[in-house]
Amino acid sequence: MRPSVLLPLLAVALAPAAAAAQPITVTLRANRDAGIMGEDGTLANGAGTGFHAGVNNNGDERRALVRFPVGSIPTGSTVTSVRLRLYMSRANGNAVDIELHRINTPWSEGPADPTQGEGQGAPASAGDVTWTHAVYDTSLWGTPGGDVAAVASATQTIGTATQSYTWTSATMVSDVQAWVDGSAGNEGWMLIAPGAATADARRFESRESAQSARRPALIVTFTSPNPTGACCANDGSCTVVSAPGTDCTGSYQGDDTDCAPNPCPQPKGACCLPDAAATCELVTGQQCAIDGGAYGGDFTDCADAMCPVVLEPFVDPLPIPPIAQPVSGESGGAAEYEIAAVEFEQTLHSALPPSRVWGWDDGSGPVYPGPTIVARRDQTVRVTWKNDIRGPDGVPRTHHYLPVDSCLHGAEDAAKTVVHLHGGHVAAGSDGYPEDAYPPGQELVYEYPNGQQAATLWYHDHSLGLTRLNVYLGLAGTYVLHDDEEEALDLPEGEHDIPLVIQDRSFASDGTLQYPAMWMEHFFGNAILVNGRVWPYLEVDRGKYRFRVVNGSNARVYRLALSDDSAFEVIATDTGLLAAPVTVSSVLLGPGERVEVVIDFAGYDPATRVRLVNSAPAPFPGSPGEGVVPNVMQFRVGDQAGHTDALPGALREVSSLDPDDAAAERDFELARVEDDCGGARWLINGKEWHDITEKPQLGTVEIWRFVNRSGFTHPMHMHLVSFRILDRQEFAVLDGEIQPLGDPVAPPPEEDGWKDTVLVGPNQIVRVVARFEDFAGRFAYHCHTLEHEDHEMMRQFETVTTCGDGAVGRPVEDCDEGGGESATCDEDCTVPTCGDGTLNESAGEQCDDGKQEDGDGCSADCKDEPGGGDDGCGCRAGGGSRAAVWLAFLVLVAIRRRRGVSSAARPGGPAGS
Ligand code: C2O
Ligand code: CU
Ligand code: CU
Repeated sequence: MRPSVLLPLLAVALAPAAAAAQPITVTLRANRDAGIMGEDGTLANGAGTGFHAGVNNNGDERRALVRFPVGSIPTGSTVTSVRLRLYMSRANGNAVDIELHRINTPWSEGPADPTQGEGQGAPASAGDVTWTHAVYDTSLWGTPGGDVAAVASATQTIGTATQSYTWTSATMVSDVQAWVDGSAGNEGWMLIAPGAATADARRFESRESAQSARRPALIVTFTSPNPTGACCANDGSCTVVSAPGTDCTGSYQGDDTDCAPNPCPQPKGACCLPDAAATCELVTGQQCAIDGGAYGGDFTDCADAMCPVVLEPFVDPLPIPPIAQPVSGESGGAAEYEIAAVEFEQTLHSALPPSRVWGWDDGSGPVYPGPTIVARRDQTVRVTWKNDIRGPDGVPRTHHYLPVDSCLHGAEDAAKTVVHLHGGHVAAGSDGYPEDAYPPGQELVYEYPNGQQAATLWYHDHSLGLTRLNVYLGLAGTYVLHDDEEEALDLPEGEHDIPLVIQDRSFASDGTLQYPAMWMEHFFGNAILVNGRVWPYLEVDRGKYRFRVVNGSNARVYRLALSDDSAFEVIATDTGLLAAPVTVSSVLLGPGERVEVVIDFAGYDPATRVRLVNSAPAPFPGSPGEGVVPNVMQFRVGDQAGHTDALPGALREVSSLDPDDAAAERDFELARVEDDCGGARWLINGKEWHDITEKPQLGTVEIWRFVNRSGFTHPMHMHLVSFRILDRQEFAVLDGEIQPLGDPVAPPPEEDGWKDTVLVGPNQIVRVVARFEDFAGRFAYHCHTLEHEDHEMMRQFETVTTCGDGAVGRPVEDCDEGGGESATCDEDCTVPTCGDGTLNESAGEQCDDGKQEDGDGCSADCKDEPGGGDDGCGCRAGGGSRAAVWLAFLVLVAIRRRRGVSSAARPGGPAGS
């Protein structure tokens, strides 16, 4: 219990034991009211919702009668104050003085209810009061218009504002005193406006009013000869009532107790304090406000995990993920790595206990996000991706760490993982095929040839049905690819070149990462982490920084800006540099997308603090402000100069693809459908993962149109390829048909580069163009909202190739120069090698028996061995004569010459160019 709660109790204890009787205030409600009409004694208004006083437009007078039950005031009481409160609901004419006159003759309220014209009255029935009759039609007034005291008890000017008006006076006190004492009959008061001119009339709400607060009320304060005491109502309010508290609905505090100060226990409720411990306290609403908490309402209870963990921003420094260390070769070049997925504890905010996360260990220790792999164009990186996920007991996990929703296709309750290099142009067998996810104790060796331009790629888990959980737990890392052209640019580097992996998470107070057990359409955390730390800060030099921003969130889209609205430069999209820096004041980034920006802190005074902020609603696009977590991180400007060289005006020539070259244009409709198990799921063209309907021919260009028939933005991602955005077209749906609205719009300059993920807004068609090249096989394409991807907005395309089509299709083809085989590329589109059993004289082979050992007439380098085998050089396997092969070769050389095919001619684009 909080000490402050003790104070009121203490005050009661200290109150004088036998105080004088306390004044009691009661609010009495009229038990009789009516209106009478001067022009006709047969008209009445007893049961109407209002009554009138004054003179109407016809010059006819109106008077009103009202009476209150004073019987609840004990005999012998002394009345000390009386107030009559009426609500005036309609005014005519000018302000008018309305007098209260005590009525001397008993009258009654009858049933007449002039519902149409209240002021006009209705024909009187038996029991109504009228101008002539105190009770129609059995007893007359002594004086028509009512028998009242000649002198008014009180007068109140009634203006034209519709509101409550109050009459109070010493005479009213003596009127009520007389009624209580019984020295006069309680017949109430009549409202008379003697000075009213024609059309000065007022309507008041009667006890039949629909709004109880507007009904007539008499507030009487008195002291009782009986003992009095405080009565506490449930809501904590206090009234003094007569002993023994028959009027007390609540708890009577005892004779002579008092309401000042309020002794009543104030209602309490759950109050969530804004702290890392997610403290819930049971306090009064007032105390909750003092404590800066969020009050759940009176009588609410604290429940488990009811309060959010609230973390203070900008208390921890930004971690920079370590550079991955190879087991052979060197970082930044050709290298081999062994990297294990592991479970461990990491502090994600200094006010939280360490959280159990999944991350990667390259041998230097586990880290989330994983270590940054630094690679170089055309220098192969090979990674042995191990799964070494173990529970806290050190035993390899047989179940997932998080609850797995089995409604999802392929979702298994297993700690499986498979790694995808997002943005990487790699063979199918190294691409992280979702069905290849493997359990602890297993590994896969993946090869990244890096035959693509400098870019910020990222690697992350891609397990079928588990990606959202695995990435949420931390299986993500950055992959930085350099090339000569980029390095010649004098962009900020080293400590001024920093990856920022942005992810949203929610925590329990023990640091545990929170994620729902049941699939939901999208999950948004309430805290933003950068490089695995909640709302970190970075101390920066007064110069330029190259930030490689990765949106590694499950579902959250960010609109990133600086808190002072300063401009910054976008220099690269997902898979490469832009032609030139693009100056922006904000940039939109969906899950899976990357953007490289240069922020220049040279203009800030030392010690300035500027924040990276977000304004994108969640879900996106939503409505402004909805679901926004505004802070991302903070920059603290130091006094060192840093990188102050000018940003180059031109970055690199950005190639493009001609949409007219497209061999196919395909539509992909994005829509949600009902799902018996999970409630809903997301599909592309109504099809699922196993329906493979797109088979691009390797080497060809295709246009893909993503048609979003839903209310959410979907970040659509394609494996294998990089693409250029052609345009965005808004549309409406009329009778189920798509109707374009306006013209297609080209992408903004900051998106006009090579990409692998594109935001497709609601009712929007986005066209992208890509060349499918080099690698034959099955590759995923999907929405990168991980909840969508897992259920089941992920499909696959299959790149196909035929020998002789001029496009190399690895791994099945080593070469393909078009027109069939050639001197260096045989009929199977494989490069002839000694020992493959095919004689390739142009490759310098004199023989090839499919064996490479000596002693059979064919040497290890496919030269005839003098005095070798029985046929001299009869080592060629599979029959056929040398002459036939030679002839075929000559024919092919001739064909190649005619077509002018050169082995150097390769399709353009970011991957091969
Ligand atoms: Cu970044 Cu298929 O994913
Ligand atoms: Cu990818
Ligand atoms: Cu989606």
